[in-house]
Amino acid sequence: MGTIWLGVLACMYVCYAMPPDKMRALHIIKTRSIDLNNAYGLAMESRLEKSVEPTGYKLALEPYLEDGMFKGRIEINITVLEETESISVHCAHEIDIMESEVLHRLATEKEFKSAPVASVSSDPKKPILTLRLKEAIPKSSVGLLKFYFKGNMETASTEAFFKTTYMTEQEVERTVVATQLRPNNARRMFPCFDEPAYKTPFELSVVRPRSMTALSNMPVARTENITDEPDAVWDYFERTPPMSTFTLGLIIADLKLLNDPIIYTDKNGNKITLRVWGRPEYLQTLEGVDDKFKRVFDEIASFWQVSLPLRQLDIVALPNYQGVKPADNWGLIVFKESDLSNRGYLQLAYEICYQWLGAFTTPAWWSDAHLNKALVAYLSAEVAFKINDGSEMEGKWPMTVLYSLYYEFSKRYPHSRITGMKQETASTKIELLFRMFNYTLGVDTFRNGLRSFIESRKFKTFTGDDIWNALNEAAKSSGRLPQDLDIRKLANSWIEKDRLPLVTVTRKYEDKTAQVSQKLYLRERPHDVPDADRLRWWTPVVMVRADSLSFTNATPVAWTDTDLTLRDLPDSNNFIIVNPEEIAPFPVNYDEHNWNLLSQFLQGSDRTKIPELTRAKLLHDAWNLAYAGQLSFATALNMTLFLKEERHHLVWDPIFTMIDHIRRHICPCIDDKFRAYIRNLLTPLYKELTKEVKEDEENWKKNLRSLSKTFLCRAGYKPCIEEAQEQYAKWMEAPTPDEGNPVSNQFICPVFKWGTQQEWDFGLQRVINFPSSRMQSERTYLLKTLAGCPRDEAKIVKLLNITILEGNSNFTETDLFLIFSMLTGSPQGYTSLFQFLSNNWDVLKEKFSSKTNLWDSLIASATSHFTTQDGLEMVSSLYVAHQGEFASAEHIIEKSMRNIREEAKWTDTNLPVMSKWLDWYLAQN
Ligand SMILES: *[C@@H]1O[C@H](CO)[C@@H](O)[C@H](O)[C@H]1NC(C)=O
Ligand SMILES: *[C@@H]1O[C@H](CO)[C@@H](O)[C@H](O)[C@H]1NC(C)=O
Ligand SMILES: *[C@@H]1O[C@H](CO)[C@@H](O)[C@H](O)[C@H]1NC(C)=O
Ligand SMILES: *[C@@H]1O[C@H](CO)[C@@H](O)[C@H](O)[C@H]1NC(C)=O
Ligand SMILES: *[C@@H]1O[C@H](CO)[C@@H](O)[C@H](O)[C@H]1NC(C)=O
Repeated sequence: MGTIWLGVLACMYVCYAMPPDKMRALHIIKTRSIDLNNAYGLAMESRLEKSVEPTGYKLALEPYLEDGMFKGRIEINITVLEETESISVHCAHEIDIMESEVLHRLATEKEFKSAPVASVSSDPKKPILTLRLKEAIPKSSVGLLKFYFKGNMETASTEAFFKTTYMTEQEVERTVVATQLRPNNARRMFPCFDEPAYKTPFELSVVRPRSMTALSNMPVARTENITDEPDAVWDYFERTPPMSTFTLGLIIADLKLLNDPIIYTDKNGNKITLRVWGRPEYLQTLEGVDDKFKRVFDEIASFWQVSLPLRQLDIVALPNYQGVKPADNWGLIVFKESDLSNRGYLQLAYEICYQWLGAFTTPAWWSDAHLNKALVAYLSAEVAFKINDGSEMEGKWPMTVLYSLYYEFSKRYPHSRITGMKQETASTKIELLFRMFNYTLGVDTFRNGLRSFIESRKFKTFTGDDIWNALNEAAKSSGRLPQDLDIRKLANSWIEKDRLPLVTVTRKYEDKTAQVSQKLYLRERPHDVPDADRLRWWTPVVMVRADSLSFTNATPVAWTDTDLTLRDLPDSNNFIIVNPEEIAPFPVNYDEHNWNLLSQFLQGSDRTKIPELTRAKLLHDAWNLAYAGQLSFATALNMTLFLKEERHHLVWDPIFTMIDHIRRHICPCIDDKFRAYIRNLLTPLYKELTKEVKEDEENWKKNLRSLSKTFLCRAGYKPCIEEAQEQYAKWMEAPTPDEGNPVSNQFICPVFKWGTQQEWDFGLQRVINFPSSRMQSERTYLLKTLAGCPRDEAKIVKLLNITILEGNSNFTETDLFLIFSMLTGSPQGYTSLFQFLSNNWDVLKEKFSSKTNLWDSLIASATSHFTTQDGLEMVSSLYVAHQGEFASAEHIIEKSMRNIREEAKWTDTNLPVMSKWLDWYLAQN
């Protein structure tokens, strides 16, 4: 469900053991959600026919803890909607049905009569059990399905009805049985109508060892002794409110309460008991969780103001629970022990919010799950922020999610690299739409809308339209939205496409107006998206102006999906900002003069009157627009001048990604100037961050220090290189250097980049000699840095000579793929690889004749990354010289040439501007 912000997106895939030179986009995204990946498959699931529907379950369970099996008896009340001769229920194949029975009566009759069952059959391909009746039962009658069954508890995972064990501190083994029925695992525990929309009461009873505790959605109503079994009892739980099968929960374990239960009285006067449970020896670690629980519950209950129909809400730190996310049963939330004892509020808020949105009202089908997730994620982030300023997210929400959308959706082919992310980004985008409506409609209207949504959908299911329509009504009645607009229409204009708009604001200073227009935001070339002109988004135009500077009013001047003229703007000495605080997910471009006004203001002492999120946005937008070819680089670089004084990590955060992007795009001809600029930019920040280093300092500080150091080293900052070489010398002097590497990873790339040939050779020898007994990931890291870091051709050619021409047996094909890929990370790298390919064409062609993948990878790596006219000429002449010899890679080099042609246009326009600006800048500094 992604409540954990993990760090660098691309790094999950590529750079986790990579030298800094190869780090990809540094934007941050939540971890992928199992939830949604599941939901994607679930949306296609086979559904039950609709001739009957359940109205209540009575379930009696006898788990045999030692044997890991259980017996059960279930009675399902049903209503017959259509005359039918058969009844189907969900039931996993592993459940053994020992007896089944169908009773029915007309609504007017008193007594049930038996409906003889002709056959019971299980669909071999689907978890569906069908009872065929000898005679049809009529429409509108009521019925009772009875099953006796048995099954085995899950032991390989903590899913469905599972059993797991753990050791106490006294080395005594203890057993836990519990459920995680989400999303469709109830059928693995008992026969049922396992679809979210079938909401019914449950009456659960269970046998448990007398010494253990049983918890479920409701309190225990009564406990009964069992004749002949003095060590076991029956617990009968109170009847639940109507709910979906997957929200049923059960735990039997040695649990104790943390402190006294909290009786919480909500604003409607409803009481609910809040309890925290854990194994006795863990309670001390959980100390304080009950206060957090109450704090978060209070926030969320006050937000919804619709009372939960539960008498208690338990949260449990379950030993050895291994679910990726907590089991969010209604009234009984099951956490991993470490999740519950951690310091943050976000996950707890997420789970508690889910008690309303997910359990009280439920997405109609799994295809709507991402909407539920989006709203819960949004609300829980707001709550966590309110409580502790979002410190667990380093204050980076919503940038964390927003920037990754900006990068993904502005690609020529969004999601082409990591297809599994599509659902996740769709959900993230909706999360940001909720944030947009919260701003533009105002907190009160937004909250009222959501309240009436819950009120109208409680005990039921919902679709997206239910939410949008409720918000719409609230917006209309508070007058926060023009009558001719409709929230659903606004929202859908964003939801329908995996794209975002770029809004351009061009001011006309003489008559104090501005033209606002929108178009598809594309960052990576080529920009040939079909029908791009026809894409339209309903964008809120929220404006801040320098002559009455305030960031409190987020009411849009207008909502528009077309061009618009703004009037009565300030004079030419005063800037305007459109879409401050990233209220809606779109970048904004301005005319050059307005950018310069912003740049001037940001360099002045009033800088912080613009909040950090907006400062970051201005900078982030400017650079990305320049990168996209929409803004002069001189203007974008001017926007970095204020960083001299800037110390807020939110503003600095995007810089590193941008430096990385630019660095890859510029030719070696201005490399030195660009590096000097980076050193100038980062040195003051780095110095200040190293003045005082504390053990218990905030995470953002650590990260920012380490990032600025990495980038400074990369840019050739002397003190860093000296330190790196000093450390590296220890390795070179070690008597047995192949047994281990005493040098911290951060020092290796700077040495290979700026150090001597001898130092680099030493590293290469370590890879050649690398003992198989050591961690291979260390070898991989070393090889990556050897290839990816150097800036001189000799090192690169030597590596290619040894690994390819000499065919040194200590290098594998996988190593070659790795080397090729690393060489694409810098102009020096791919240029050297290209020269190597040209010089050794015949030999390479021969060597790779039967290795199509390697050949293709070589051609792609050596040709596709050039960005200049010169590069284009080099690649074209190779193409001409060897026409017809490229074999499988023919289309690869053709594509490379097309792309370089695009990039070269960019370079021709931008490089001279950048170069001139850098000269100007360096002359002053
Ligand atoms: C099933 O229906 C009977 C009446 O026919 C009712 O007494 C019983 O409470 C219902 N069971 C559940 C679990 O709703
Ligand atoms: C149940 O058994 C316990 C322990 O044997 C006993 O103390 C208790 O009185 C019994 N309760 C009833 C209602 O028989
Ligand atoms: C950049 O800033 C300098 C100094 O403020 C200014 O002279 C110059 O015109 C700006 N360049 C652009 C392209 O905006
Ligand atoms: C591979 O490494 C081993 C161990 O250092 C060495 O003996 C061998 O000569 C190397 N192979 C080649 C072809 O260099
Ligand atoms: C690489 O090999 C070529 C051809 O064998 C040779 O001319 C060149 O000097 C070698 N370069 C390096 C840096 O080893």
